Amino acid sequence: MTYVIALPCVDLKDKACIDECPVDCIYEGARSLYIHPDECVDCGACEPVCPVEAIYYEDDLPAQWQDYYTANVEFFSEIGSPGGAARSGALSFDHPIIAALPAQQPSA
Ligand code: F3S
Ligand code: F3S
Repeated sequence: MTYVIALPCVDLKDKACIDECPVDCIYEGARSLYIHPDECVDCGACEPVCPVEAIYYEDDLPAQWQDYYTANVEFFSEIGSPGGAARSGALSFDHPIIAALPAQQPSA
């Protein structure tokens, strides 16, 4: 199981979650962050600190955001398991589902 980052993160990238993750498994893409499904230890520390409630346990992902499970998993298809987001740095791409989204406006 894993935690998943959904739509509210896109084009916002608050990054408060990164500081909470004990295993450094929250990776930065161009427009969103992504949780590595195999590196995540399901501790739940990241979920409450996201100011826009973008993070969910996979079983609790709202129905309209089910695709974000796929996006978080498939984001790592090409890069595998780097074993730490700090080492990877910010990545310059996104999963196609996120890349295809229109620009998200910050909520007022
Ligand atoms: Fe995104 Fe929330 Fe983290 S906006 S970067 S999931 S704190
Ligand atoms: Fe990391 Fe725990 Fe979240 S392992 S991604 S802080 S659930």
